[in-house]
Amino acid sequence: MISKTLEAENLTVLDHHYHELKDEGQDVIKGLSNSPKTLSPKYLYDDRGSLLFEEICDLPEYYPTRTEAGILKQYADEIAEITGCCELIELGSGSSTKTQFLLDAYQKISDYCKYLPIDVSGSILKTSVLQLQEKYPEFQVHGLLGTYEQALVHLETNYLQSRLLFFLGSSLGNFNPQECDQFLSKVARTLHPGDYFLLGIDLQKPKHILEAAYNDAQGVTAAFNLNMLSHLNWRFQGDFDLKLFKHQAIYNEVDNQIEMYLYSQGSHWVNIKDLNLTVFFEAGESILTEISRKFDLTNMKESLQNKGLNPVKTWTDEKGWFGLILCQA
Ligand code: AVJ
Repeated sequence: MISKTLEAENLTVLDHHYHELKDEGQDVIKGLSNSPKTLSPKYLYDDRGSLLFEEICDLPEYYPTRTEAGILKQYADEIAEITGCCELIELGSGSSTKTQFLLDAYQKISDYCKYLPIDVSGSILKTSVLQLQEKYPEFQVHGLLGTYEQALVHLETNYLQSRLLFFLGSSLGNFNPQECDQFLSKVARTLHPGDYFLLGIDLQKPKHILEAAYNDAQGVTAAFNLNMLSHLNWRFQGDFDLKLFKHQAIYNEVDNQIEMYLYSQGSHWVNIKDLNLTVFFEAGESILTEISRKFDLTNMKESLQNKGLNPVKTWTDEKGWFGLILCQA
């Protein structure tokens, strides 16, 4: 894999593999041809989607960000003490807001630190790299622009020193059990013995709390979900009419997951020019745009252990709503 360095050494754009470029949008064709229809949650995150997600994190109903930040604030020093000085790598860093508790803690234990935020959204990554570099001058901050897959391949071949890889915000919840398994295997393969992996996961809790968090009163989550269609419109020359779709999130208590849907209001056709795709929507037909799984801490520790990611210590908030697991490869 070849990488291009941009912006005064502060940002690397991870290249697509040839097959990824060629296959771009094939998942959209496949997902919209499925019954029931699905779309990958990665399309939630164009620049506007990333901004809307930042807004979601501040909503009164959306407890995960606040809860995880509280745990990090309280235990970051302890985490740094356990791992010692290491290179900090974050998958899906977004605005890196919560990460600052970790950066503060690592700054205390060493005078040279490196932080590599990885994200698919270029504008948010550039902004946060510049801001962090200013706020933490003794850190070397270097952004990697790309997907999780690209990042893990890049990390495999660009190994430096002992590492703490972290994956916060329960983004793991977007993967179905099989994808989750594959992802954790990739993480385990990327890390060297002794490296650390810090995972943040949202835990199971009553349905009404979960459904409120994903159907907020201000409609920010609805805008975030609908924005996926605008993203497809600009990216692949589509003609989705956003007025013809309605957002709803439902908690599936059998699979312990939030399911986020867009429901077609009335029957109509949608054309996506660049994909040579015409799709029919029946009135009331849904597109599943995201699952957000809610985990059990004991089960997750077991899964990690099975992958050779050995749990070292676990932290939660006093309500037991969110969990942080530190593992060692
Ligand atoms: C970023 C995947 C963790 O599942 O809670 C928030 C995304 N979707 N509100 C989550 C999301 C709707 C979020 N993750």
